[in-house]
Amino acid sequence: MSRPADVFDRLADRQSFRRRLNRWFASYGRDLPWRRTRDPYAILVSEFMLQQTQVAAVIPYYQRWLERFPDFAVLARARESEVLHAWQGLGYYARARHLHAAANVVRQKFYGEIPPDAATIAQLPGVGRYTAGAVASFAFELPEPMVDTNIARVLARLTNYNQPIDSSAGRDHLWAAAAALVPKIGSRKHNSALMELGALVCLPRRPRCTQCPVRQFCRAPAPALLPVRRRKPATIHLTEPHTFRRGRDRILLERSSSRWRGMWILPRLSRVPERTAPLLQLDFPFTHHRVTLVVFASSAVELPNERQKWFPIGALPHLPLATPHRRALAQLLARN
Ligand code: ADE
Repeated sequence: MSRPADVFDRLADRQSFRRRLNRWFASYGRDLPWRRTRDPYAILVSEFMLQQTQVAAVIPYYQRWLERFPDFAVLARARESEVLHAWQGLGYYARARHLHAAANVVRQKFYGEIPPDAATIAQLPGVGRYTAGAVASFAFELPEPMVDTNIARVLARLTNYNQPIDSSAGRDHLWAAAAALVPKIGSRKHNSALMELGALVCLPRRPRCTQCPVRQFCRAPAPALLPVRRRKPATIHLTEPHTFRRGRDRILLERSSSRWRGMWILPRLSRVPERTAPLLQLDFPFTHHRVTLVVFASSAVELPNERQKWFPIGALPHLPLATPHRRALAQLLARN
């Protein structure tokens, strides 16, 4: 295991590393839409979307989002239901709410422009150290390090770091390594290239070391075994009963107050009804949970409450509906 400073202690080493990495990136880096812009707003949007979602899934959402909400001012003025609707399908809706809140902070506190300073950017809602570094570097070319999952893997291997990277010592090590490498000029290209190396070459299970432009710097004797993480929490199984209550052309929905706060779901039941066969059952993952959504016919229903509302069936495509509930509804309506 090497201290980050030891791996690149000579300036010449660092320059040679960056040169090789950048040359590789110029040939093999992907042309992604957010790599064509320096607009801090667009970059912030892309980074929020990419936090828990794959690149291919994000691209169409990113493009539609920028058409619908082209800048902080338009987003800040939008209603939450519109924002959630545009986010629908990406999951983890806290990201959309945070982005909306961040737009309001930028409008009110910074007169509509993100300041070119990582520490200030990090104070925006939903923005952590990584996202602040990404905006500072990609939009403003500030020499800020950034460590996401891909970069963490690359740096853990380069420095042969064999302790858990998801501990505070592990995080410190990776951020120190990233900071030691980032150039004063050209941080945007450098950070993009480091991330791209993790995405295309320094792969989790089967790293393509023979294609690696910086393998001469790598200290890991068995890169596929790195990085090490603390043990994952075990998957928790949950069963969540809901009800399907429809009139001739309408359907009863409930506004979620918890996981999908602000979005519509099938009305909840406080417990699984006894001796009643469900209409439908489907599973979906949520963080380290496996949730079974079980839907019962309305005879099992409890009295409507104030969070519930009837909607015309034709309005469903325009409502912010939690994705598993939209799937359940589509199946149930197709049967009726
Ligand atoms: N994942 C997170 N941010 C990214 C970016 N800017 N480009 C590609 N993948 C990413």
